[in-house]
Amino acid sequence: MIASVSISLLKIASWRGDIWEGWAGQIILRCDLLQSRKTHDNQLDMEWTLAARDRVGIQDFVLLDPHTSETAFLDNLRKRFSEDLIYTYIGTLLVSVNPYKEINIFTKDLMEIYMGVNFFELPPHIYALADNAYHTMLQEMNNHFILISGESGAGKTEASKKILQFYAVSCPSTDLLTSLRDRMVVSSAALEAFGNAKTLKNDNSSRFGKYMDIQFNSEGEAVGGHILSYLLEKSRVVHQNHGERNFHVFYQLVEGAEDKLLQSLGLERDCQHYSYLVQGECANVSSINDKNEWKTVQQALIVIEFTEDDTESLFGIISSVLHLGNVHFEPDARGYATLLGKAEVGWVSKLLGIHEQVLLEALTYRKIEAKTDEVLSPYTVDHAIYARDALAKAIYGRTFTWLVNRINESLVNKDSTKKTVIGLLDIYGFEVFYVNSFEQFCINYCNEKLQQLFIQLTLKSEQEEYEAEGVEWEPVQYFNNKIICDLVEEKHRGIIAVLDEECLRPGEATDLTFLERLEEKMGGHPHFVTHKLAEKKTRKTLDRGDFRLLHYAGEVTYCVVGFIDKNNDLLYRNIKEVMRQSKNPIVRQCFSSTDMDSRKRPETVATQFRTSLIKLTNTLASKEAWYVRCLKSNEAKEPGKFDEALVRHQVKYLGLMEHLRVRRAGFAYRRRYDIFLKRYKPLCPATWPHWYGLPADGVAKLVEHLGYKPDEYKMGRTKIFIRHARTLYATEDAFDVCKNELATKLQAKYRGYKAKGDFRRQKQAATRIETCWRGVRARKEREKRAWAVKIIKKFIKGYLRRGEAVSADNSEYLAFVRQNFLNRLRDNLPKTVLDKTTWPTPPPVVKEPSALLRVLHMRHLVRKYVRGITPQRKAELEVKWITSVLFKGKKDSYPQSVAKPFVATRISEQDINVRVVETIRNERIKYSTPVVKYDRSGFKPRQRQLILTQAALYMVEEVKIKQRVGYAALQGVSVSNLSDNIMILHVACEPKHKGDLVLECEHLFEVLTKLSILANKQSVIKVVQGSIKFDIQPGKEGFVDFSSGQEPMVYKAKNGHLMVVSLRTRTR
Ligand SMILES: Nc1ncnc2c1ncn2[C@@H]1O[C@H](COP(=O)(O)OP(=O)(O)OP(=O)(O)O)[C@@H](O)[C@H]1O
Ligand SMILES: [Mg+2]
Repeated sequence: MIASVSISLLKIASWRGDIWEGWAGQIILRCDLLQSRKTHDNQLDMEWTLAARDRVGIQDFVLLDPHTSETAFLDNLRKRFSEDLIYTYIGTLLVSVNPYKEINIFTKDLMEIYMGVNFFELPPHIYALADNAYHTMLQEMNNHFILISGESGAGKTEASKKILQFYAVSCPSTDLLTSLRDRMVVSSAALEAFGNAKTLKNDNSSRFGKYMDIQFNSEGEAVGGHILSYLLEKSRVVHQNHGERNFHVFYQLVEGAEDKLLQSLGLERDCQHYSYLVQGECANVSSINDKNEWKTVQQALIVIEFTEDDTESLFGIISSVLHLGNVHFEPDARGYATLLGKAEVGWVSKLLGIHEQVLLEALTYRKIEAKTDEVLSPYTVDHAIYARDALAKAIYGRTFTWLVNRINESLVNKDSTKKTVIGLLDIYGFEVFYVNSFEQFCINYCNEKLQQLFIQLTLKSEQEEYEAEGVEWEPVQYFNNKIICDLVEEKHRGIIAVLDEECLRPGEATDLTFLERLEEKMGGHPHFVTHKLAEKKTRKTLDRGDFRLLHYAGEVTYCVVGFIDKNNDLLYRNIKEVMRQSKNPIVRQCFSSTDMDSRKRPETVATQFRTSLIKLTNTLASKEAWYVRCLKSNEAKEPGKFDEALVRHQVKYLGLMEHLRVRRAGFAYRRRYDIFLKRYKPLCPATWPHWYGLPADGVAKLVEHLGYKPDEYKMGRTKIFIRHARTLYATEDAFDVCKNELATKLQAKYRGYKAKGDFRRQKQAATRIETCWRGVRARKEREKRAWAVKIIKKFIKGYLRRGEAVSADNSEYLAFVRQNFLNRLRDNLPKTVLDKTTWPTPPPVVKEPSALLRVLHMRHLVRKYVRGITPQRKAELEVKWITSVLFKGKKDSYPQSVAKPFVATRISEQDINVRVVETIRNERIKYSTPVVKYDRSGFKPRQRQLILTQAALYMVEEVKIKQRVGYAALQGVSVSNLSDNIMILHVACEPKHKGDLVLECEHLFEVLTKLSILANKQSVIKVVQGSIKFDIQPGKEGFVDFSSGQEPMVYKAKNGHLMVVSLRTRTR
């Protein structure tokens, strides 16, 4: 649980800077300071708050030192007023000083800050009081009222509007209730138009008393409202003192209504034209904007659900009153009243829906009922004027009552479950004019009653509290105005009783006879004086027709003229009857009351008023009271001006000093244990953050920890009483410092809590995402597996039927096999033409295509190879090819020779003897190589050069050509099939023939291939198995035998053959 202190701290922290600007200095708990303070600045802070206290005064007079000094009291008020701090507490009582200027402290933001905050935690404000009343009501489920008092112009109506606005914003609401809430707020605008007027004291003076109940259900929702109105000052309709105006609505209609409406009502846009509007000679004043107000009122009427007909009838009545004022009479020959000009009466009759003649008669004749007969008695001019004004007052007064009822209908709560209420009492303030009449008497009596109620509920009960709490106290003397209330209202003896008596007694009663009766009855009363009763000095200040009351708020001299009439408030019976016939529904309704039927004399105005006030005070006494005491800062309505004498006077008569003294009664401060503990518990480790025992024990622990001395405080039954303000200041300052630390701690805790929450949420989100993702993956996996099973099954089936004709069962498998084979093939193709082994074994299904592909690929390789070889290489290969034709598969050493390239010649021309070269130049040497020649008979090896020309081959021994064999004479060439290098050249028997040549050459294949090409004798080269026979000389034969062995050798065998042993090759 977060303590309330922390809630308000959070609220303070969110307080907007600009609001603070307006309240500079007043707030000890400045939010910017709160945020920037560091622990080591504590000392500084304390000084700052004290300094601020010096500059802007204290917020609660209870903490004022010295508390008995009126000067200190006024100083504090002035200090605060000069800083635009218009509110100050005396405990839970709110003192408000009218600033006569707009101060930026009535914003929605500020309302939110004050909502649900401990009363003393924020600077004094009417919102704090309203909020506290509301929450106490909700907690304790009982009824409350807020008594707003102060003299005329002190700001009561403004205060009551602020409270209503606060509830409209702060109470929880539903869509249904929103419109009700709006109606509640705007109803004041409508009522003010009809019930307020400019007076000398106040430009918007309430000329009726208003008590409004706001009903709340158990959820704290405002579910309904009810307004009680008290005694409207009707005389204002027909008469205004100099400098005053009639009720606002008349001016608003004339100034603000559209031309069309004015026309239909027969009005001109000129207040000067109407005698009921000009008596005060100030129809238009700069401080009042009637045009704008007209719009506001119209809007308000729409919100409280006035139909067009309602509005039309209502303004018809207002206009008819204006027209009535302009009805004038003149005496006829007999001195009786006749009408002067008919137009106005015409309009009145039209607007009220009454036949013109009937109306005219009612205005000029009185109907006297004598037993069974009715006699018409004509009026004198004065009488007619009296009747006219009486009618105007009656119409207006009753219409006002109708309006209040109509508003009540729109505010009615339809739900019958139990409700609690907060009542708002905004009544006309105490007023003293140059001439004071019956109205001022009633108004001031009303204020006396409220003061009496205040005394009963506060001063008395306050002192009773000490007793109840068992705390010693010194009784405080205060002025109890009961004596004045009694003087006015006491049965049979009071002024009202005397007035009534005069009004009701038979015979000629006049205002002066009333005064005489008063003097008889009241003579000697300390609060009553008249010209006759006064001692010499006072007498000078009184006229003969005056009486003076010493009210709680000061002396007021009343002029008795009109008291009797106003108290009787007579409207002749025939006029009432005429009004009952009206076609205007409001008028008809207003005059249809039962008083017509009753023959009993109606109660006088003063008695009615007294009864309603007594009823009101009784109702209020059963509720919990909250007080707003409004003070007027100056008489001139000047912004920022603090008239000390005026304020001092109000402070005096409102009993604020007494109130303060009683509140203190030796103790500057007291608070219920639970509330005290709730606020200051952070200051003691034992009570912070929670104290689970009894609040009183917690407070005892707390004050012990704070080091309160025994004489500094007292523990009552339910409250702690602190003797000196300084003790509380010290505690408050310590709390102020502690708040910062707490705020930091709370911030840290909250941040931690928030971060944890965020982390948890993120983790949950991550887990959720993981789960989802795993699900998705698992589903995918499952699908994949199902797919795989299907594919594998298909594969197996395909495999099993692979040998069958292509069908649906094996077509895919076969396609796969084919594809697979092709893939394999792609990666394993033979790279060279000679590579005959690299070719993947094809599965049966692609055997045929494989073979075709192999051929194709081979062809491709061949083509690629062929394209890649040069003409020179081609020539070399062609030669090699000839070699292959001659020897491939025939001679064992052939395979080794394939890779050895042939060269153009083995002996360069320089290495051949010059003479030899010279000799055979003509035949052009094509090739030469060293050879070993074996003698034909002895087989002795001899080194020779073998030179091949275009025409013949030569055996050369260094410089000498040993033998020339023309190609034509070359009959054959024999070689063995083994791996030796022996070749036998068979030469034709010619005369110079020396026999066949047995030669050994390392480059056997090269020599023989070149020879076969040059001699064009491919066919003569023979590969022979076994021995080779040769001619040693014509007719004599020799043999060469061949064998293979471990070591190559050539030698003459015992049989006389040449034995050639060659290395055994592996293939053999
Ligand atoms: N809180 C305020 N801020 C600014 N101006 C204010 C405030 N309170 C009152 N006033 C000014 O003082 C004038 C008179 O106030 P208000 O009508 O509330 O007085 P009142 O006490 O109701 O008087 P009355 O008894 O004549 O009805 C207002 O019209 C307004 O100009
Ligand atoms: Mg008022």
